[in-house]
Amino acid sequence: MQLDNPRSKDHLWRWYERATVRKSPRRLLEIEANKLFFRPELFPASQHRLLINVGEESVRRSLILHLFDYLFFTEELEHEVVNRVAAGLAKGRYPITMAKHMQLAAYKIYIDEGYHALFSADVEDQIAEYTGVTKEHTIRPAFLNILQKCQEAAGPQMNWLVDVFFSIISETLISGTLNKIPQDTRVVTVVRNIIADHAADEAVHHVYFAGLLELMWPQLTAKQTSFIGPLLPHLIKAFLAPDRTRIVMTLQSSGLSMTEAADVYEDCYPRAQVMKSIKTASAITLRYFRQCGALDQSQVADAFGEAGFL
Ligand SMILES: [Fe+2]
Ligand SMILES: [Fe+2]
Repeated sequence: MQLDNPRSKDHLWRWYERATVRKSPRRLLEIEANKLFFRPELFPASQHRLLINVGEESVRRSLILHLFDYLFFTEELEHEVVNRVAAGLAKGRYPITMAKHMQLAAYKIYIDEGYHALFSADVEDQIAEYTGVTKEHTIRPAFLNILQKCQEAAGPQMNWLVDVFFSIISETLISGTLNKIPQDTRVVTVVRNIIADHAADEAVHHVYFAGLLELMWPQLTAKQTSFIGPLLPHLIKAFLAPDRTRIVMTLQSSGLSMTEAADVYEDCYPRAQVMKSIKTASAITLRYFRQCGALDQSQVADAFGEAGFL
């Protein structure tokens, strides 16, 4: 039985010196005239002519509200999914054989994710206070509803697999937001700073979760792989697909009617383009699934094919 994964042997080794929660200061909003609160290209609806026609203030408001959606998504992901998994790994609650240092690393991930949730809430609060813009809803992100359905289908014996594989996916994807915002000097510094902090921690988590996949896939039973394998493409889409309900609500809160908001959504998120960006963002994750042998099972490869990944 393989007890350890050499690739993740020294992951998080310098956590006490390098983790954001250990070394970075609290990020505070500075007054910066004419800066944006989010990168417009990552929220194309903000550039739609129907919104531009309403006025500059509506465009600005839509970017702030979209930032708040992004920050709330981060909080929910960290608190509701990744930290449940980090705690499960730390406590050895899953039927996976792993080295002690991988368990200890999960304690560190738990702290990192808790801190990511905290700075997301903190910065949202600071921006809301400064701008006077507050979100008009706290609808849970769509991915949580999809996860819940998958867990119900899994039943008590296998529902842990849904959490663990969703975490492997979300921790190994290359997020456009994490990558692009820190370099975008049009965006307010506080947002660039927290996203850069987050990206630095996530680069380490990426290595851990890629190692976890490599370690655990061969340990799964045939029953477990044939349940979770075909679900993988759907979990990737759950994480990466635009959240229609929340985007339409943001547009309505920014001054569009319900019909206009729905039209803007259709114009800005055409299916083919959405699928193309999902494939780009998940290319590395898919490579890990291939490397660990998941796609050697025909039902898994078929599910990825049918979902438009291959
Ligand atoms: Fe995180
Ligand atoms: Fe993470």
